[in-house]
Amino acid sequence: MDKIMINEMPKHVGETVRIGCWLANKRSSGKIAFLQLRDGSGFVQGVVVKADVPEELFATAKSINQETSMYVTGTVVEDERSAFGYELQVSGIEVIGEAEDYPITPKEHGTEFLMDNRHFWLRSKKQHAIMKIRNEIIRATYEFFNDRGFVKIDPPILTGSAPEGTSELFHTKYFEEDAFLSQSGQLHLEAAAMALGRVFSFGPTFRAEKSKTRRHLIEFWMMEPEMAFTEHDESLEVQEQYVAHLVQSVLKNCKLELGVLGRDTSKLEKVQAPFPRITYDEAIEFLHEKGFDDIQWGDDFGAPHETAIAEHYDKPVFIVNYPTAIKPFYMQPHPDRDDVVLCADLIAPEGYGEIVGGSERIHDYELLKQRIEEHQLDPEAYAWYLELRKQGSVPHSGFGLGLERTVAWISGAEHVREAIPFPRLLNRLYP
Ligand code: 4AD
Ligand code: MG
Repeated sequence: MDKIMINEMPKHVGETVRIGCWLANKRSSGKIAFLQLRDGSGFVQGVVVKADVPEELFATAKSINQETSMYVTGTVVEDERSAFGYELQVSGIEVIGEAEDYPITPKEHGTEFLMDNRHFWLRSKKQHAIMKIRNEIIRATYEFFNDRGFVKIDPPILTGSAPEGTSELFHTKYFEEDAFLSQSGQLHLEAAAMALGRVFSFGPTFRAEKSKTRRHLIEFWMMEPEMAFTEHDESLEVQEQYVAHLVQSVLKNCKLELGVLGRDTSKLEKVQAPFPRITYDEAIEFLHEKGFDDIQWGDDFGAPHETAIAEHYDKPVFIVNYPTAIKPFYMQPHPDRDDVVLCADLIAPEGYGEIVGGSERIHDYELLKQRIEEHQLDPEAYAWYLELRKQGSVPHSGFGLGLERTVAWISGAEHVREAIPFPRLLNRLYP
């Protein structure tokens, strides 16, 4: 008899198989027990009919508790009523580890309770579906960039530089020196792009942001491509193709998961390149027309502003050319104006906010030196970054996509804390 995973059942119809699984839920009457079984690869209903099995087996089926682990033997049959399409007619149960008073029952629980029990909450059907979608987005990322000849580069996590400003840094000791946890791998990726042409990274980044919103994590994962000989408009094309590829891959490969989450997929189907582009100036004008009196030219957008702009489109929208003063030191100025830079934020539909931030980078030595001084950055820590502009400098562009915001948007999760296995939030380092 084969030991298989639940998601392999379609290939074993009519056969007797064995699965290692946990009991997710149970319903039973005097004559029949329905066991919701899960093994990580999927969920399947096991049916135990009293009249067809030995008395002890039916007694076991009726008495096992939620989250008991076991080997279950049975025959795979097709079942049109279930979303999965198959069920297991159970002929044997071998209990491995009993479970008692499992904290997460099928009834409603408050968020803090669920977050305190995140080590268990991950087992539930919706969380399982979100983690599968997260995995698909990571898989599709490697596929997209590898297919286009990008080389995966791993920038350091312990650094001496702060690409996104010094106010949100996590400090740590590096023996006698001071170090920070990486906010972004961008600066090191720029060096790598001068060696390998087109590179990308995927790794954890850290922001000591005192923000408590549905879009902010303290530790989050970012995909960061960096491209030599690439101007900003070309980077926007890569961004829209990449984001469309992520959405279309999830639609294709995560149908069951999107179904479990009740995601409205008609909204996702529209996410095809190209995406609309508006300038920062136009966005301010649009917001004034919509009655937002609280925002002036030169201010950064808040969540309500981004949501109002996003609602106007059925695809993600690029806001391009932000004021120089509210963006980081490394961004290339607009060729015709010195008050805005060649950058874009990509705003997701449905209120999920900015999912990508990117720009063309300054490639001129003197200008970059001046910006480092203006931003009062430590010249020693940025010496290597500046030197890149003296040895065959070229126009180059790149961007960063926040994984958790993208996962939350595509899966329709309410908050980014559900888009990462163990979220690090303002007041949460447990579990
Ligand atoms: O816009 P950000 O700060 O851009 C950078 O770090 C650039 N250096 C990237 C680059 O050009 N290589 O961050 C990029 C993305 C944001 O658009 C957002 O999706 C996500 O990272 N992000 C966060 N996600 C969750 N929690 C936070 N606190 C986040 N801060 C940024
Ligand atoms: Mg940003």
